[in-house]
Amino acid sequence: MNVELKNLSFDAACLARTDVLVVLVAKDFKVPATTSALGAWLQQAVKTGGLGGSGATQVQSFADPRFVAKQVVAVHVDSGDADGVRSALAACVKSLSSSNVKTVLVSVHALQLHRSSANKRDWSQALVGAIEQGSYLYTTSKSTTVGKPFKARVTICADDAQALAPQFAVAKAVASGVAVAKEWANRPANLATPTHLGEQAKAMGKLRNMQVQVMGPREVAKLKMGSFMAVAQGSTEPLRFIVMQYKGAPQTQAPVVLVGKGITFDTGGISIKPSPDMDEMKYDMGGAASVLGAMQAIGELQPKVNVVALIPSCENMPDANAVKPGDVVTSMSGQTIEILNTDAEGRLILCDALTYATRYKPAHVIDVATLTGACVIALGHVRTGMFCADDALAQSLSNAGEVSGDLCWRMPLDAAYGAALKSNFADIPNIGGGRAGGAITAAKFLEKFTADFKWAHLDIAGTAWVSGSQKGSTGRPVPLLVTHVLQHAAGLAGNTKPTTASKRAAKKVS
Ligand code: BES
Ligand code: MN
Ligand code: ZN
Repeated sequence: MNVELKNLSFDAACLARTDVLVVLVAKDFKVPATTSALGAWLQQAVKTGGLGGSGATQVQSFADPRFVAKQVVAVHVDSGDADGVRSALAACVKSLSSSNVKTVLVSVHALQLHRSSANKRDWSQALVGAIEQGSYLYTTSKSTTVGKPFKARVTICADDAQALAPQFAVAKAVASGVAVAKEWANRPANLATPTHLGEQAKAMGKLRNMQVQVMGPREVAKLKMGSFMAVAQGSTEPLRFIVMQYKGAPQTQAPVVLVGKGITFDTGGISIKPSPDMDEMKYDMGGAASVLGAMQAIGELQPKVNVVALIPSCENMPDANAVKPGDVVTSMSGQTIEILNTDAEGRLILCDALTYATRYKPAHVIDVATLTGACVIALGHVRTGMFCADDALAQSLSNAGEVSGDLCWRMPLDAAYGAALKSNFADIPNIGGGRAGGAITAAKFLEKFTADFKWAHLDIAGTAWVSGSQKGSTGRPVPLLVTHVLQHAAGLAGNTKPTTASKRAAKKVS
């Protein structure tokens, strides 16, 4: 994705040489003063109801001799709030991506970006996120594709580019992290094995201040991660435990630890899943993909903060060696677990990674997992389920969701929800209480491994991918995670000083 930000008046944008000029037009659009014929054309489009009237979201002109741009597209963005802009601009970019366009200017002059203070959304993330979304195309396992990835140079023009610049740098890094997450989540399970994920993590070790260690079955056995190993034992693919450390602050500063569920395929194991839609269980490493994506963004931004990423990764398969319902295993924490359902495997690999997190004396730990179908029933596909006993941390995550547009919703952790986690044969069972409140039961299980630190759990079962004809990864919750980590870093510094990367970006804007 090739996006930049430029200080350019509406007048100058109208007269700039470009293949396409996209003008975003809100409902209460007032044509900015311009000497160009474009202003009159836009006004006409709105007045006649051709734009925004009868649901028309876009009007275009091609090779109009009055305009300098070869193609002009006016995009109606409803009230002009960040979410409306995001979806309209993404659709516009998608429609352009089939043509051979090389340069695109996007005018946001008519949006008055800073006007709507009722809404916390970050404009830069909305604009850049839309361009990423509109230009994304999965190609890895296709020999032919309809369309091609959008390679045009996109320039967002605003009167106040300077003011937007620091956030714009963040938005670009977030978009690049989202692209990493989408790519890995979308790859089929035979091309995204635990070994492949380990190799991707290793490759990210070339980012500045990033150290990566990838462990295999022998090291994990040595760590006594009996719960994680029990899930992996049904597959011929060897497990991987990925540890990434981003060191942007002195060693004395406690790190944020991100833990991502990396089940590269979830058949359910011996408690096997029904066949319909089982292919979607390739997305069961969506947590891992989002943690990799967040580390990519953090590595690009170089904030003054320490971040550790932990990714337990394996397949969940039925096999002669597979763990059986009723088997009891000993987790790294020492707690024994009766595996009553081998399909509740996410919590079994996460619990050992959470125990491992203790050694970092973390500021806090956030795990991210496509953990329960019950969370999809509870919240649908708009908001990620967020579980956190610490009010300040919960507040920061909610806020990061609002700012980035990558929303979450706080869920309860009352003791009563965990009451059914009782076993006659082990310290705890891995399921209990039936279907009702299943997302909370899962969180209560994980909570038993978090006594040593502040902890939040993000259940992304409903938000990590979309099903149907548009099947594909959303790259969520990369925007939420990165925004949260940057907020945490700014809080540590006791101010909201921009990162060096964003300062550099501000300087570059002319
Ligand atoms: N990966 C699934 C959760 C899932 C299912 C996410 C469907 C998205 C869509 C997880 O490993 C799982 O199978 N959970 C079980 C837990 C149950 C056995 C307590 C579930 O949700 O059915
Ligand atoms: Mn499962
Ligand atoms: Zn799973």
